[in-house]
Amino acid sequence: MSGTSDGPITEIVHVAGAHVGPLLARVEQRLLEIASDNGPVLSEHATGTITAGGKRLRPLLVVLAAGGADGDGVIRGAVAVELVHAATLVHDDVLDAAALRRGRPTVVASGGRELAVATGDLLFSRAFTELLPSGPDAVRALSEAGSALAEGELMQRADAFDAAVSVDRYLRRCELKTACLFVAACRLGSIEAGDGKALDPFARDIGTAFQILDDVLDVSGPAEQTGKHRGTDLLDGTVTLPFILARESDPALGAPPGMTPAEAEAVCDRIAATGALDTARARALDLVVQAKDSLPPGLPPAQRRALDLVADSVVARYA
Ligand code: IPE
Ligand code: IPE
Ligand code: MG
Ligand code: MG
Repeated sequence: MSGTSDGPITEIVHVAGAHVGPLLARVEQRLLEIASDNGPVLSEHATGTITAGGKRLRPLLVVLAAGGADGDGVIRGAVAVELVHAATLVHDDVLDAAALRRGRPTVVASGGRELAVATGDLLFSRAFTELLPSGPDAVRALSEAGSALAEGELMQRADAFDAAVSVDRYLRRCELKTACLFVAACRLGSIEAGDGKALDPFARDIGTAFQILDDVLDVSGPAEQTGKHRGTDLLDGTVTLPFILARESDPALGAPPGMTPAEAEAVCDRIAATGALDTARARALDLVVQAKDSLPPGLPPAQRRALDLVADSVVARYA
């Protein structure tokens, strides 16, 4: 199974309780059923996307936020959030003109723009169908995240190649395009547990930290570890925290349109030379501390420990 084969997630599953492994196995099975049930062309690309080795972090959050609940609603929530995640990545690779994801050619690189748009659309649609029996609150939670994602991606395009983007605007973009889906994941689990929105601050902070780390990894690489080319953000004009911080000590630093991949790698080296990667990592770590502090006091110890480990994992990762 994709999500439970690597170190930190295996440990989290172990800590969280015996019900979690089987739940995630059912999520995996359902994801495969859904991906392979769409006619030959779309099924090939949907299945390729689903089986490409995603970490399944968002389904894990659904399961952990659900506490001990292990009914079909937990599976539906976990499946739906991963389908939306997968859909956004397929579309994101179109917008970002990205060639490589999870160490493989992206759908847009291997099948073209039309196929990638259709594959993403399909995964989005199937997510909401899956969630229907869970009721309006669940559908709303996921749909709000989908709207935020679209807004975040548009904000990113609007800010493309603008070296003067502020840290606050960058953080707002992270919240919209990444953290909102983490919030939805926790809400989908909480709905099954009969809880409210108590995990929202936790999810928002680890989601933002996760995106900061992703942006650090885009500069640091290496591609063998991240599964994505180094400097992809610079090439498509996405101004991220490492670049913003690096410009504070190297104001002449620029990343103009039309760079070659080799030139983008050279800009990555120049960013790294300023120490901005460590500063950005430290910011992500602060958010992780804040996230853990925000967890409700009454959480059962195993659930708290598992959520703490998830928070730690977002800043300890390589991909
Ligand atoms: C990648 O998310 C997209 C971002 C929000 C940075 P993940 O790193 O969770 O993607 P997979 O599913 O594990 O490949
Ligand atoms: C996150 O941003 C993408 C989405 C939330 C859709 P990135 O563009 O940085 O993600 P990667 O690096 O392509 O995975
Ligand atoms: Mg991208
Ligand atoms: Mg990235």
